[in-house]
Amino acid sequence: MIFRSSISFCQVPLLTLCLLLGSQYPTQAAAPPCLPVGLRCEYLPNPLGIDASRPRLSWYLQDTRPGARQRAYQIRVGTDSLAVGRGQGTSWQSTQTKTDQSLVTYQGKALEPFTRYFWSVTVWDKDNKPATSAVASFETGLMDAKNWQGTWISDGNDVALKPAPYFRKVFTAAKKIKSARAYVAVAGLYELYLNGQKIGNHRLDPTYTRFDRRTLYLTHDVTAQLQAGQNAIGVLLGNGWYNHQSTAVWYFDKAPWRARPTFCLDLRITYEDGSVETIGSNRSWKTALSPVIFNSIYTAEHYDARLEQPGWNTPDFDDTKWKNTTHRSAPSQQIVSQTLHPIRNVEAIPAQSVKKLNDTTYVFDLGRNIAGISQISVQGPAGTTLRLKHGERLYDNGRVDLSNIDVHYRPTDDADPFQTDIFILAGKGEERFMPRFNYKGFQYVEVTSSQPLSLTQESLKGYFMHSDVPPVGRVRSSNPTLDKIWWATNNAYLSNLFGYPTDCPQREKNGWTGDAHIAIETGLYNFDGITVYEKWMADHRDEQQPNGVLPAIIPTSGWGYHWANGPDWTSTIALIPWNIYLFYGDTQILRDNYDNIKRYVDYIHQQSPGGLTAWGLGDWVPVKSKSPVELTSSAYYFVDARILAQAAKLLDKPADHQKYTALAEQIKSAINAKYLDTSTGLYGSGLQTELSVPLHWGLVPDEHQAAVAQNLARRVAADGYHLDVGLLGTKALLNALSENGHAETAYQLAAQETFPSWGWWIVNGATTLYENWPIDAKSDISMNHIMFGEIGAWFYKALGGIKPDPEQPGFKNILLEPHFVKGLNHFEASYLSPRGEVLSAWQRTELGITYRVVVPPNATATLTLPAAEGSTMYLNEKLVKPSPTSPKNAKPVHRLTAGTYRFELPGL
Ligand code: BGC
Repeated sequence: MIFRSSISFCQVPLLTLCLLLGSQYPTQAAAPPCLPVGLRCEYLPNPLGIDASRPRLSWYLQDTRPGARQRAYQIRVGTDSLAVGRGQGTSWQSTQTKTDQSLVTYQGKALEPFTRYFWSVTVWDKDNKPATSAVASFETGLMDAKNWQGTWISDGNDVALKPAPYFRKVFTAAKKIKSARAYVAVAGLYELYLNGQKIGNHRLDPTYTRFDRRTLYLTHDVTAQLQAGQNAIGVLLGNGWYNHQSTAVWYFDKAPWRARPTFCLDLRITYEDGSVETIGSNRSWKTALSPVIFNSIYTAEHYDARLEQPGWNTPDFDDTKWKNTTHRSAPSQQIVSQTLHPIRNVEAIPAQSVKKLNDTTYVFDLGRNIAGISQISVQGPAGTTLRLKHGERLYDNGRVDLSNIDVHYRPTDDADPFQTDIFILAGKGEERFMPRFNYKGFQYVEVTSSQPLSLTQESLKGYFMHSDVPPVGRVRSSNPTLDKIWWATNNAYLSNLFGYPTDCPQREKNGWTGDAHIAIETGLYNFDGITVYEKWMADHRDEQQPNGVLPAIIPTSGWGYHWANGPDWTSTIALIPWNIYLFYGDTQILRDNYDNIKRYVDYIHQQSPGGLTAWGLGDWVPVKSKSPVELTSSAYYFVDARILAQAAKLLDKPADHQKYTALAEQIKSAINAKYLDTSTGLYGSGLQTELSVPLHWGLVPDEHQAAVAQNLARRVAADGYHLDVGLLGTKALLNALSENGHAETAYQLAAQETFPSWGWWIVNGATTLYENWPIDAKSDISMNHIMFGEIGAWFYKALGGIKPDPEQPGFKNILLEPHFVKGLNHFEASYLSPRGEVLSAWQRTELGITYRVVVPPNATATLTLPAAEGSTMYLNEKLVKPSPTSPKNAKPVHRLTAGTYRFELPGL
């Protein structure tokens, strides 16, 4: 380390700081110093089927120079890619706009439906030099229901009929094809084929909505699959949540929308001569039943390969025995584009072992718990029936045990066994089966066969399925248990993301609201999830009662308006939009849901004018102690009122801002008046949840914070650094400690390996998070729940110390405050923010701590380090001293511009 100068970084203006550091980071000669990259439209790369009339465009900078930033941007949008590449936008040419914003709403000429638009952005970098992105695109969809040509059709069968229907249509393409798109709106699920080829790699499209209020359509580019002359379109429809034939406690079989699956399809062909032809679904389409003899999103799929009709989706197939289709009314008045990262078979998971129990029974083990499906390859005589039972546990005799996950299933006969696919062989050599319209939660698959079969470890593999949201975060540390908790948390999160967040992938697959708001930060630190959450908030709006009440599960058949839907669960209406705003810096989700949040808060206010409400479930599945429901529910009510007040301010509604700020204060006072003992600093009887919920959610008056936090740390120590919380407590506990001077205590809890703790699950082999603390609990024992998953966010917030700044959201300014906890030798968190990659990494050395930070271009950071006044610290090998004006013992604060920093701190 070289002593050069001593500087107070609190007082150094941003630009000076980057100039100071600049000499150590020479730019590479060849690469352009600044490039706008990551171009997205509506948060998707080059999407098709955009219905928004003013889509959002975003990018970030690739620029490693210290102090890199954007001084201005100019966007061009047009239908001619070459012209856009040359810098001309005929649809929109924005002015050179002096701002660091990199999220912009389209403001050009009205967009036309069915049109591919190209766009690029030029930015002016820190030196005012222009740099232009590559050309990206987005394509509009139908934009308006009146643009549909097709009619909704089905096979006219009854809801109770089990086999899934095929549909086909042959047509002639008379001219040379330039491009073609298939627009497919479905109530149910579908697979689309053209000339025998399956289109795309999505699974379980369209994602689940309340079908009678909003129905989704997909857009496929099918140019490559069409041919001159005769073409065949094939569609296979599944039931999904639309025609729920299985029976369980949530009454999806009685859903008001339930009907035989139906679809509307427009195949829109643009010929080389510019003419357009649309082949729409109508009664001329033919239908027949498929070999999918049963399919349930909830339980499983049954397939009889003997019923296959080879070539059913090709032009030459003889369909004279097929029936005509029938017309149907549209399932809802809102047919809108699905603009989401789709569900896919994201990861193939080979079986780790197989055990042959007898000639007809094998049990495969994937070695980890997943949501998804299995695929089997097998050879055997025609009519051989295989049953593939999927579960998370084994009985002592080695067979698959479903007793932890089939508890809410209410079968009316034995034809629909839980999580058990049935595959009947055609007897034609090697055959393969993978269900199309179902997924499960499992680690083990027990295959039983009606006659002896020879199977090997390679005969079966699993596919981890989920919404294929791009990973954006990574955590690594010197503690393997911690790293495994992070991995297991992400596995549980993804296992519960299927176009809407769920509680568990096996027993329920329900959009439980409480579980989802607990997991929102874990989700957003690790995955680019905005598209799924924006869609799910539309599901909320579809389900909200006029009086503001929301159901506990969303979407719902109607169940959940009567139980479990207090503010501790359904505050999703405020918490999800607020967190999306913090992470993405986009106000649209607040705008879209503002009235809904308001109706919700007003409802609680009407019911509980005094500010306290006991509406809710409370600290669900606690270890042992039960905290008062009124305390936790009122805390969430407070949070909602505060978010509403903040949103009102952002959206320029001063009267609302005033009103709801006052309401939040009233609720806070009511809670403190009843629960806070100001002489002891205890809430209630001083349980972990009672103390951490008020601390985490900002209810504790400033002057009592230290005492309450101290009490919490003492409580945790008295509990042997073990958890004594349920779902609401897990959200608050670690944060309440680490944000109030007790990071070491928080770490001891997080890294704990004896019962009850997250680590206890891990050392006992968990690869996902569980629903209950004891591994041998008798109830609430799904092995793939995300509701205790806040720890996945805490790693970033406390150990990495990376947080969005509510004053400058979207990581425009990053709040950095790492905690160098004693138990760890190194820790590293990286997060691809909307402005680029943030890195916070620290390592213990003989001399102290080396701390590396990367602040992405076009962002700043406020870094708070734990050094005390007077101690030496080096930044990029230069000695730095905290500000002489900083109050004694105050933590030094550094304002950083974009760049890479290396701090060396004395032993801490
Ligand atoms: C779900 C939970 C949910 C809870 C609420 C359970 O059955 O699986 O995760 O939040 O019910 O009551």
